[in-house]
Amino acid sequence: MPVFRPHCYLSSWPNTISCRRVWPLLRGRLKKITAIYPGSFDPPTNGHLDLIERGSKIFEELVVAILRNSEKSPLFSVSERREMLLALTADLKNVRVDTFDGLMVEYAKSIDATCVLRGIRAVSDYEYELQMALLNRKLEPTLETVFMMPADKYSYVSSRLVREVAQAGGPVKGLVPEVVEQKLRAKLEPAYKLQQTSETGKPRKRKKG
Ligand code: PNS
Repeated sequence: MPVFRPHCYLSSWPNTISCRRVWPLLRGRLKKITAIYPGSFDPPTNGHLDLIERGSKIFEELVVAILRNSEKSPLFSVSERREMLLALTADLKNVRVDTFDGLMVEYAKSIDATCVLRGIRAVSDYEYELQMALLNRKLEPTLETVFMMPADKYSYVSSRLVREVAQAGGPVKGLVPEVVEQKLRAKLEPAYKLQQTSETGKPRKRKKG
């Protein structure tokens, strides 16, 4: 029974089993990786989409998993967020969108995911993400967390800030995909107009540009 010692094969190349023969055998044994990208996605941002696209290139399957019943009071319902993410990922064939409840590690196990994808935008994200990754590892040692960085132009974009800007009637162009921008406008503009009307007696005119 030959023992695979890469250094021996490389040093005695080409007399023993060549890498060209061994590599396909090893590759065949590597498992296909299903990863989950969990989050609140309230709303999905360009940073989320950037990470989904990057993740879809390295994992065989990527499941974007929206947390249901989060304690926060969300701006968009879970089904609205699911609808937006479905539209945003329609062209990515190895990406699917799902929702989950309870412990993320349990959900990952239930769909045979072996990896968790999370984004790190800046050092400030690191502490929370590290804490979460280590706690998840304690809960389920076989589940690996993989961190990826979104494009630097999205490093300051977060769902919370997008909500804040949109709720104050500010522009969110470039921060979120167009479909999300439309949904934000549809959800918030009536309330914003109403607020302006009650303050001034007249609806405020929108500035051009
Ligand atoms: O987009 P978010 O709000 O940063 O995502 C946080 C999320 C949903 C990934 C995290 O809160 C989570 O996994 N919640 C599920 C409950 C759970 O497993 N908690 C333990 C994580 S350490």
